[in-house]
Amino acid sequence: MAKPSIEEMAAFAKKKGLVYPSSEIYGKLAGFWDFGPQGVELKNNIKRLFWKRFVWEREDIVGIDGAIITHPRVWEASGHTEKFNDIMLVCTGCKEKYRADLLIADVLGKDVDGVPIERIDHIIENERLACPKCNKSLSKGAAFNLMFETNVGAGKDPKSVAYLRPETAQVIFTDFKQVLDTARVRLPFGIAQTGKAFRNEISPRDFLFRSREFEQFEIEFFVDGKKKDDCPLLADVADLTVAVLFDGAKEAETITFKELVARKKAGPWHAYWLAGFCQFFLDYGIRPESLRLREHAKDELAHYAAACFDIEYRFPSGWKEIHGNADRTTFDLDRHAEFSGKELAYFDEETREKVRPYVASEPSQGIERALLAFLYEAYDDDKERGNIVLRFHPQLAPTKVAVFPLVGKLDAEARKVFGTLRKAFVAQFDRSGSIGRRYARADELGIPYCVTVDFEGLEDGTVTVRDRETTAQARVRTRELAEVLGRLLEGGIAFSALMKE
Ligand code: ATP
Ligand code: GLY
Repeated sequence: MAKPSIEEMAAFAKKKGLVYPSSEIYGKLAGFWDFGPQGVELKNNIKRLFWKRFVWEREDIVGIDGAIITHPRVWEASGHTEKFNDIMLVCTGCKEKYRADLLIADVLGKDVDGVPIERIDHIIENERLACPKCNKSLSKGAAFNLMFETNVGAGKDPKSVAYLRPETAQVIFTDFKQVLDTARVRLPFGIAQTGKAFRNEISPRDFLFRSREFEQFEIEFFVDGKKKDDCPLLADVADLTVAVLFDGAKEAETITFKELVARKKAGPWHAYWLAGFCQFFLDYGIRPESLRLREHAKDELAHYAAACFDIEYRFPSGWKEIHGNADRTTFDLDRHAEFSGKELAYFDEETREKVRPYVASEPSQGIERALLAFLYEAYDDDKERGNIVLRFHPQLAPTKVAVFPLVGKLDAEARKVFGTLRKAFVAQFDRSGSIGRRYARADELGIPYCVTVDFEGLEDGTVTVRDRETTAQARVRTRELAEVLGRLLEGGIAFSALMKE
């Protein structure tokens, strides 16, 4: 089935109140997006489901919510001030700015993520790469730091400079000791955070995929470095299979997570957390053939990483990263201990030794990229119905139920039903147009269930419930409606069970 291009998806999302370009009345600001009434619900559902699975349901993870602007020394210690750069090229004619690796990937089909400036300059010269807009020559590569600067306090001088965080992770490291002292955690354990991150991307593009303001859900999973190969939880995911594109390979191979560890491609905790996030995507509707892991080449690794895999989703334009997951070693705690002069260590009660915890896995999940993957997967241009259906998993669906009066005369009765349902679910009321048109509108928002109040129901205290997935209908007693919908949405019963009643 043909899926829309990224531009078509952006137009659809705008039309349906999911996502709009930010400050559009002033001509937009590239790389910034606003979430509309449907989009805010979808995004909140995604964030809640990550938090539920990886924080609430686990004994070994605790959450925090840290500040967006931190002491500027944080970014010196983390290496971001010095190394969080992309290579920029400027056209000598029209002055258009390009991110070198993306331009080279687009025009030459070469993956040069992470290669040094000299090699980029060499490729540009050798291949005679020119500006795609005006065909004039390009400048030499220059490092461009992606952090947004701001000033804190009344004065604007070098001492007041601070940064909007480019990743949520660092606050986890700077709060590490506070969590250790207050949350009664014991190694191995993780700290999770979800929130905004900002990157002054040279070329924001592809709708939500590469924006300048986005959200991340990140976990730092700390282990004792001496015991990092000891992961009792690996057994839970060992036999799950996944397609993996290894560094240097032309094609992905499908292997189990157990094999990933046995081949020494990933440590056991690293594999365990990669599997956990793959399973999350599968559970909420991504098909296995749309998901793969990609191993980072050594020269592509971030300055803090010993190993890294991306989870990639197959977008219509190709495989692209939706999740990064690094073995981050003790790099960050070492650096913060050095720069702050504070002891960032864990006291092991058994061995009576101080341990500098090792980050065996850092799942770094972009919320908007997850949203985009779920949106693509759900999007179905259903020719038989003659409308688009967003086949969201019910837990993801922004609006859970729509209530319709069959005719205007039934408005008051239908509003009563709506009033009850909206206390439990995100619900909407729709009285305009034919019932068929109203079903189509609901399908296009991915609403799993539509409830129609009709004359027959007034007599016997029932309503008609229609299932988005199959269009099947069943009569349900009005007084049981909220409970039945709750069970349907949670997967406690199948719709077909209602039809047999
Ligand atoms: P890319 O190579 O595509 O620029 P990245 O390797 O810089 O991505 P990471 O630094 O690994 O991305 O960031 C972790 C996650 O944060 C990504 O997998 C993605 O989901 C999200 N993310 C990063 N940059 C952006 C962005 N500009 N817009 C939206 N999400 C982003
Ligand atoms: N914390 C990893 C990243 O944002 O890249």
